[in-house]
This record gives sequence, structure tokens and C-alpha cells, in this order.
Amino acid sequence: MKTQVAIVGAGPAGLLLGHLLRAEGIAVTIIERASPDYVLGRIRAGVLERTTTDLLHRLGIDARLNAEGLPHDGFMLADGERLIRIDVKALTGRNVTVYGQTEVTRDLMAAAPERGLEVIYDAGDVALHDIEGDAPYLTFTNDGREERLDARFIVGCDGFHGPSRKAIPASVGRTYEKVYPFGWLGILADVPPCDHELIYANHDRGFALASMRSETRSRYYVQVALDEKVEDWPDDRFWDELIVRLGPEAGGRVTRGPSIEKSIAPLRSFVFEPMRHGSLFLAGDSAHIVPPTGAKGLNLAASDVAYLAEALTGFFNRADHDGVAGYSDRALARVWKAERFSWQLTTLMHRFPGQTAFDRRIQVAELDYIARSKAARTAIAENYIGLPL
Ligand code: FAD
Ligand code: DHB
Repeated sequence: MKTQVAIVGAGPAGLLLGHLLRAEGIAVTIIERASPDYVLGRIRAGVLERTTTDLLHRLGIDARLNAEGLPHDGFMLADGERLIRIDVKALTGRNVTVYGQTEVTRDLMAAAPERGLEVIYDAGDVALHDIEGDAPYLTFTNDGREERLDARFIVGCDGFHGPSRKAIPASVGRTYEKVYPFGWLGILADVPPCDHELIYANHDRGFALASMRSETRSRYYVQVALDEKVEDWPDDRFWDELIVRLGPEAGGRVTRGPSIEKSIAPLRSFVFEPMRHGSLFLAGDSAHIVPPTGAKGLNLAASDVAYLAEALTGFFNRADHDGVAGYSDRALARVWKAERFSWQLTTLMHRFPGQTAFDRRIQVAELDYIARSKAARTAIAENYIGLPL
């Protein structure tokens, strides 16, 4: 098999890049390890920046997004007693959209066949070859057959654990990492959200987040220790803890119900540089991870592929090689700012093991400063809606 761009991974980064390249007439094949149902079963991000929704509008893959996406003009920070509103719309003139990653992926998957975007699911043993030359290729198994896919470029959109980043020799790459000593336990439940906006809460007992997928479906998270298991958290325990952490006002409005999904995600900051080696590019979680607190992971995957689509379109359609050469630096400049924001919000809002009374007072003082300073709220809002491409 032969194509122009071979993409590893059909998560949001891979599918979005595939569509952006197809829209420019470039041949693309995506190789995905999992089945479509498995990919759609992963409950992850919920908040989309305008840069992300703009890409979906540009592609015209936006009918459900337009009908079902919830525009959010602000969100709340809670300090255990009060709610501090960050009026994102008033502070920046822009808003964000609540629309689940699962739905984005579903829409991109559904539009693939009609746009000539080939996706091969259930591929085994995906391996990258000759990435330093200009004729790289992938090998994989599919339906018991050994397959080979030749391409001009390979793009690794295969998440944190995929093979693409590992194909870059250690001598040319550098990793930066910070692992946080806690995770997020998340549940999805068909109950109305406790508020029409998101609430990020810093309570003495730890962080909690009230989010949603629709007016009838809630997504909630609580910070848990790394050794805790989903089985330790029957629904009643989860609801009791969430309600305490959200504080009396928002906690009092929580509607309990049976969870339809429950999982724990560890928190990590991670950046791999460079995001290109020879004919291999990295995009999304394969190159960088942010802790989920700033809602940046999916949005960074989208901005990476926006840059990369521009670079590859220049290469194939205008013989312009500058975009390809500049991709890594351009993407990393935005990545590091999102890393900084996600780290800052994580540090401000979580309870750290070994946290001293001093550390706690600093968090409380910062939240009070944010409550009183428009400049501080503007800095948060600007980052939350996403820095310009
Ligand atoms: P992935 O979604 O991980 O996709 C990678 C794909 O590659 C997968 O389909 C995988 O099966 C495939 N793959 C892996 N290995 C191979 C292989 N060997 N061969 C072939 N295919 C392979 N981000 C936000 O922007 N906003 C949020 O509100 C937010 N909330 C989050 C909440 C949680 C609980 C979590 C866990 C994450 C959250 N994120 C959020 C982060 C966001 O989900 C990720 O950043 C996003 O999924 C990255 O997309 P991706 O396509 O790069 O990687
Ligand atoms: C959701 C996840 C996040 O990480 C976040 O910051 C906001 C919302 C969510 O899953 O809804």
C-alpha cells in the first residue's frame, strides 16, 4: 500500500489531521490499533477552545457540534466557601464550547468514508521504519496478514504510549516530565449538572470538578491518591465526597444518580522535543501531556495538527518546505504555554501530600487575589480560551 501521509492513531489528533489533509487533496491512511467501539468508549475531554471548534467548522463537520455543543461564557473557581467567577466572555470576548471528545471523535469517524479518509482499525504490531530518509514506511498486521504502508511522511498521533515517539533515537530527543502525586477519579451520570457552568474546587480534602456533557448528563471528578482503585469508590462514597468538596452552595445543588462510567486518570506534565525527526512528526499526546486541570490536552492536539496540516499542505501543494522545517518550534511554543497554564492551575487547585499550612495559605491567598483582581482573572481567562494559533 502507498499513500502520501501515514498517520498512526485514530484519536482526535489523527482523525482531525486526516480530514484537514484530505480537504487539501492529500492522500492519507490512518492505522489504528483499537476497534472503533474501543476508541469511542474512552470518556475524556469535554471543553473545546475556539481554535478547535473553528477547525471543525472549517471542515464542515459541525452539524452536531452546532446543535448540541454548549457555549460557555465563564467558569468558577471554588475555595471551599465561595465561588469565584471567571467571566471569560467579558474578559476576552470569546467563549469555549462544552462538547465531549467522544462526540468529536464520533463525528470525525462518521465523515471519514465520504471524504476518502481511509482508517484501518484493529491493526497489530504497528512499527515505523526508515524515518530518517524520505521513504519511510509502516508495517502492521491486519486480519492475520502482514501489511506494509509506504508514505512520504509518517505522523505519530498514537498518544502517550504509542510507538512513534519511541522510534526517535534517544540521542536526538529530550523529555521534560513532572508526575503529580494524585489522580482524578471521574464519573459520568445521567443527572442534570449542579450548575450551568463548570466549577473547579479547591477544598481542604482535595480538588473536585463539576462538568457536564449536556443539560441531562454530568461529568464530575475528585482528586484521589495514586494507590486508590475505582472499586474503593462506590457511587455513594463518590457523591458524598464530591458534595463536600464543591462547598455548600454548589454541593447543595448536586443531583445523585447511578454512574454510567467511572475511571481514574493519573496526572502528568510531559513534553518531548523535537516534534519532528526526519520524515516523522509527532502531534498531540504522543509528544506532550498536560494534567487535565486546564482542559488543554485535546485542544493542544488540535492546534498541533492545524500547524502540521498547514506545513504538509505547503509541502505537497506548493513545494514549500519551510512549514515542515518550522513545525516543531512553532508547535512547541504553544505547547509550553499550555503546559505552564495547566501546571499552574493544577498547583493552585489541588491538595499535595505533605502540603504545609504555609502552602495552603498561599493557595488561599492566590484565590483571594484572583477574586479581587481583574488582571489576574484576565490572565486565567486568556489561557483558558486558548492562546492564538
Ligand atoms: P489519543 O486520544 O490518546 O489517541 C491516540 C490513538 O492512538 C488512540 O486511538 C490509540 O488507540 C492509538 N494508538 C496507540 N498505540 C497505537 C499503536 N501501537 N498503533 C496504532 N494506534 C495506536 N483535554 C482537553 O483539551 N480538555 C479536557 O477537558 C480534557 N479532559 C480530560 C479528562 C481526562 C480524564 C483525560 C484522561 C484527558 C483529558 N484531556 C482533556 C486530554 C485529552 O483527552 C487528550 O489530550 C487527547 O485525547 C489527545 O488526543 P490524541 O489524539 O493525541 O491521543
Ligand atoms: C472536563 C475535563 C477537564 O479536564 C476540564 O478541565 C474540564 C472539563 C470534562 O471532562 O468535562
